[in-house]
Amino acid sequence: MMDIVIKQRVTRPKNPPPIMSIGLGGIVHDAHYPAYKIAGFDVIGGFDIDPSRAKMMQEKFSIPKIYSSIKELVQDAPHDVVFDVAVPGDAILDVLRQLPDGSAVLIQKPMGENLTQAEVLLLLCRQKNFAAAVNFQLRFAPFIIAARDMIDRGLIGNIYDIEARIQVTTPWHLWKFLFPLPRVEILYHSIHYVDLFRSFVGNPTRVYAKTINHPASSNITGGTRSTIILDYGDNPRVNISTNHNHQYGTDKQESYFKFEGSKGAIKVTAGLNMNYPDGLPDKFEYILLDELEAGWQTIDINGSWFPEAFIGTMASLMHYANGETTVLPTSVEDAIHTMAVVEAAYQSTQDGGTAIKSSW
Ligand SMILES: NC(=O)c1ccc[n+]([C@@H]2O[C@H](COP(=O)([O-])OP(=O)(O)OC[C@H]3O[C@@H](n4cnc5c(N)ncnc54)[C@H](O)[C@@H]3O)[C@@H](O)[C@H]2O)c1
Repeated sequence: MMDIVIKQRVTRPKNPPPIMSIGLGGIVHDAHYPAYKIAGFDVIGGFDIDPSRAKMMQEKFSIPKIYSSIKELVQDAPHDVVFDVAVPGDAILDVLRQLPDGSAVLIQKPMGENLTQAEVLLLLCRQKNFAAAVNFQLRFAPFIIAARDMIDRGLIGNIYDIEARIQVTTPWHLWKFLFPLPRVEILYHSIHYVDLFRSFVGNPTRVYAKTINHPASSNITGGTRSTIILDYGDNPRVNISTNHNHQYGTDKQESYFKFEGSKGAIKVTAGLNMNYPDGLPDKFEYILLDELEAGWQTIDINGSWFPEAFIGTMASLMHYANGETTVLPTSVEDAIHTMAVVEAAYQSTQDGGTAIKSSW
């Protein structure tokens, strides 16, 4: 059995700059602010187009100041502030246009509603010289930091097989803004796994995908179930399979990421998806070929996807903005590749599979 300590958390920036929020919705309530509280990051102000929502969030999280417009918030912003933007994908461009050149900006995923919007956002970030990252926080979930540490140390060898399997009941009603959208499941959910797997094995060359609706989610026509194959040639095999309409109780729900290598394998059960947003317990398991007779081992992981992963995306931007590193893992320059894979997945759905001969 391994006698080494596996990394589970990111390092805290030396002097965390203050944060100003634009958009104070569900994800800020459930994950951003709980994460910042744990990390000791200061939120000094916020704005939401819905004043009653802003007031509720101010009272609940003691936000020192709520502004009545982005303009007003920007006028009051200290020079080293990080803007934490958490609005629906189609509202991002208008928000970014109003931020000062040279700002540090963390943008909630997705990076716009399609690749064309993502490209416009990328150009704007370049023109305005932003230090800009997209909030692909799953990369920084403690169980993923642990998996990455094991993989980087070569403990499971060369990676041959990666899989995300999600079979859950997702409360889509929490995101009413998704109802009319043409793209839902891949763009707003599976995008996390596309981005995560890219962060381990780079960009796939091709994608095969199919995303479909489910009669039980009749409000949503942009897909609630997807099958995505990221094509890396012979190796690794990389698959994402999601069914958000598993209506048969928690017993047979599944939500895991699995990495199989030449020397071992890791299976991470992500409880968050199984009882969103409160979650069920996670589990981190691994097995090494050298120790096969010992079977699968479990490592206790401190923290989860919600909220601890959200420390990571904010901390990485703070490190970068503070000049403590030149690496910004989820920068818009990187995130555009995740958006390109998502676009290709929708294109693949539209193009359809290979027709099957049916008459002789
Ligand atoms: N794990 C994750 O990364 C994760 C999870 C959930 C949601 N999200 C993302 O976060 C974003 C917001 O999702 P949510 O769950 O908080 O949705 P939500 O509907 O609960 O909140 C969105 C908030 O943004 C506000 N808003 C809309 N346009 C605005 C604008 N122009 N300026 C200021 N405020 C504006 C709304 O009034 C609302 O309060 C979405 O893009 C979603 O993809 C990410």
